[in-house]
Amino acid sequence: MIKRTPMVAGNWKMNGSRSLVESFVNTLNDRPFNGLDVVVCPPVGYLSFFVAECFSVGGQDISDQDNGAHTGDISGEILTELGASYVIVGHSERRENHGESNELVAKKALKALDNNLIPIICVGESLKVREDNKVNEFVGKQLAAVFDTLSSEQLSRCIIAYEPIWAIGTGKTASPEQAQEVHAFIRQTLADNDKSLAEKTRVLYGGSVKPDNASQLFAQPDIDGGLIGGASLKTEDFIAICQAAI
Ligand code: 13P
Repeated sequence: MIKRTPMVAGNWKMNGSRSLVESFVNTLNDRPFNGLDVVVCPPVGYLSFFVAECFSVGGQDISDQDNGAHTGDISGEILTELGASYVIVGHSERRENHGESNELVAKKALKALDNNLIPIICVGESLKVREDNKVNEFVGKQLAAVFDTLSSEQLSRCIIAYEPIWAIGTGKTASPEQAQEVHAFIRQTLADNDKSLAEKTRVLYGGSVKPDNASQLFAQPDIDGGLIGGASLKTEDFIAICQAAI
């Protein structure tokens, strides 16, 4: 059994300020987390401030194109030059607000890998899908598009994040059992492609993770850490969540 290094990634979304970056960096620099990968995905303009302090950072989106007339988009090459090592792809807010399809998300994951960025590929269902008992079918389709596009070797460089839409920013966390059930399904789907992939791939949980529910979620066998939204903007909460992951 391969031991997967736990990971906590903070997704600041379109939030933050220069002063928050400074207080965040100063506070976290005093608390090194051995045995845990900590990553911050701030708005892209703040990346360099984190990189200057030797933080691991990621983008929140990447274009599936290399360059050209794509106003407002950001390329893998630029993210890499800014010092990013990771990039979130297929976040439900991108899927919803920008109409990103499963196929486009898969292309973005490929573009990230081409630029030596580790994609954090987000999947997750709406409340309606859950109520209709179609979670595995829905998440399975999201994953299938990625499996159709990436080779096993490429998949082995990816991270998956399960983020049920109904739990994002709502305060309604999936119960540890609900989350574990979908994580186990994701791991089985990985195993169906390649057994060693399933053992190696980190699957993060995201959706209203807070200091008081993080330990129970992270204790589940198939949950390898978290993708944290709101609580990653509160430095002490983020630190408590990181502690819960070790
Ligand atoms: P919240 O932690 O605010 O629910 O957000 C989760 C998320 O979307 C992280 O990508």
